Amino acid sequence: MSNATTTYADFYRQSIDKPDAFWASQAKLIDWFKPFDRVCNYDNPPFAHWFEGGQTNLCYNAVDRHLKDRADQAALICVSSETGQEKTYTFKELHVEVQRMAASFRALGVQKGDRVLIYMPMIAEAAFAMLACARMGAIHCVVFGGFASGSLASRIDDATPKVIVSADAGSRGGKVVPYKPLLDEAIRLSSHKPEAVLLADRKLAPMAMVAGRDHLWNELRETHLDAQVSCEWMNSTDISYTIYTSGTTGRPKGVQRDTGGYAVALAASMKHIFDGRAGETYFSTSDIGWVVGHSYIVYGPLIAGMATILYEGLPTQGMDGKPDGAIWWSLVEKYRVTVMFSAPTAVRVLKKQDPALLKKHDLSSLRALFLAGEPLDEPTARWISEGLNVPIIDNYWQTESGWPILTIANGVEEKASKFGSPGVPMYGYRVKLLHESTGEELTKPGEKGVVVLEGPTPPGFMQTVWQDDERFVATYWKTVPGKMVYSTFDWGIRDKDGYYFILGRTDDVINVAGHRLGTREIEESISGHLQVAEVAVVGVADALKGQVAMAFVVPKDAGLLQDSAASLKLEKEIMKRVDDDLGAVARPARVRFVTALPKTRSGKLLRRAIQAVCEGRDAGDLTTMDDPAALEQIRDRVAAA
Ligand code: PRX
Repeated sequence: MSNATTTYADFYRQSIDKPDAFWASQAKLIDWFKPFDRVCNYDNPPFAHWFEGGQTNLCYNAVDRHLKDRADQAALICVSSETGQEKTYTFKELHVEVQRMAASFRALGVQKGDRVLIYMPMIAEAAFAMLACARMGAIHCVVFGGFASGSLASRIDDATPKVIVSADAGSRGGKVVPYKPLLDEAIRLSSHKPEAVLLADRKLAPMAMVAGRDHLWNELRETHLDAQVSCEWMNSTDISYTIYTSGTTGRPKGVQRDTGGYAVALAASMKHIFDGRAGETYFSTSDIGWVVGHSYIVYGPLIAGMATILYEGLPTQGMDGKPDGAIWWSLVEKYRVTVMFSAPTAVRVLKKQDPALLKKHDLSSLRALFLAGEPLDEPTARWISEGLNVPIIDNYWQTESGWPILTIANGVEEKASKFGSPGVPMYGYRVKLLHESTGEELTKPGEKGVVVLEGPTPPGFMQTVWQDDERFVATYWKTVPGKMVYSTFDWGIRDKDGYYFILGRTDDVINVAGHRLGTREIEESISGHLQVAEVAVVGVADALKGQVAMAFVVPKDAGLLQDSAASLKLEKEIMKRVDDDLGAVARPARVRFVTALPKTRSGKLLRRAIQAVCEGRDAGDLTTMDDPAALEQIRDRVAAA
């Protein structure tokens, strides 16, 4: 459907006016075992069922179908500047390893529909495990390796995995981070216990093995060297995976995705948005624990027949472990990367380095750098754009959507980005701006509203919340009175040319260095400390990380406020508690002690007002506030810092 003469406006219009024809045409980008009978079943809104009756397999599309034409071409390129290791798997080799992993899963009792939780550092085995699940129809649930035992335990209880795959350790900035003790503690905390744990031993940290439960991948693999595990033909609407994400409540949501719709959405996005071509190399610097890692480290590039780089390490560390602010660019040169995907935070880190580092390597293969996950500020965009001399393409989306909602589709029609805007609605997305309280549609340029999507949501979009359809509908589709629309929980405006600008979240989600975190989860962890009476956590603007978490705590003993040594001690204990429960990513930048928190008369915490005060902004309408002195106290604390 896309060719040089199609304008993006036409392309988009077709996707909205004739969605069945549009998506049936996109569906040709993947291989089907059995063709579908119906493009979209939207008989029961807001549940959209894509490509009903069709059968396919994600792993088949990512690996097997390429064996015919590109068996010996690189598929998975694993690079670790933490261990200095570098290894490339061709499609043929990847096919072999995935079958070994699938056979090992089978030996551990995994069957179609079972959940396999993957808690791993950025190593090849993580990708093998994901693909092996897809191959046999098991549902994977990857939990970010930076999360600690408490977070992991709640996800184990929700996903109830038969098997957990993990490793002895990860490594960050040269420091070994043992995973096994965190996993053991999580399994101790959780009510659900997995039948088996499969562990990759990198020989970075000792592992205490639990007899009968724990198995070494390194050993099991040996017994399945010649394993042949054929692809399970999945119904298009069968679940491929769940991935947890944060929202307004402390309880993480399992975002559930289908099989066929996701495969089509990724294949289409690789062509129309990322403009990645088979035989080339894609490099996303994200982590498999996040949605970007699912869509654009593992599945998207492989489905498109591209090699994908799986990188473990900091953006500023060389293969010898010594500082090297050009490590990513050296990989672009070495592997002739054509499409790169990163986050604004990473670019802000690189911006602190010598700009000459951008000129040290031959980057002529690179066609574009995509950035997503948080707002892209103009100075950062300009700096990297001038440094690389390729288009810098901002793209806005969510764990829930699985692929970009707003960006520009250079594979359809080349367009320049506007600084500060991720771009225009992508094909298949009916994006609207609604007034926060009346729910009326805002049509004039520059009006600020909540970004919503009208159903049916396109292929690849979340099907529901894992095992909780009601929560899916109540959380996302019932926020606007009288209308059933999907809320992104983001503020936005649109300019006269139809370009959107994203202005931050409407809920209690914060974005720290591109990591999406729920302030409620952090509050729950902190309030578990015996000396804490009350707590409020807000996200505060930060020049490097976009936002950082800031905690305001009312201690049980008010005397603590006069005792700086005791305050410091409690602050440290609280931070350690968050580290142990959730992981260092969620640790507040500061904990400040106060005697009261600002609330409404009905007792609701005024987080937005606290945030405004922390950022030196006007706290807005405070007529419903119960105790204005509480906010003044926070103002004083922040000013004194
Ligand atoms: O607030 C928006 C912000 O990140 C949220 C989604 O985060 P997550 O579920 O982790 O998915 C990230 C997928 C790239 C959004 O609700 N966000 C994401 N991309 C952008 C953004 N904010 C501004 N500009 C973006 N490009």
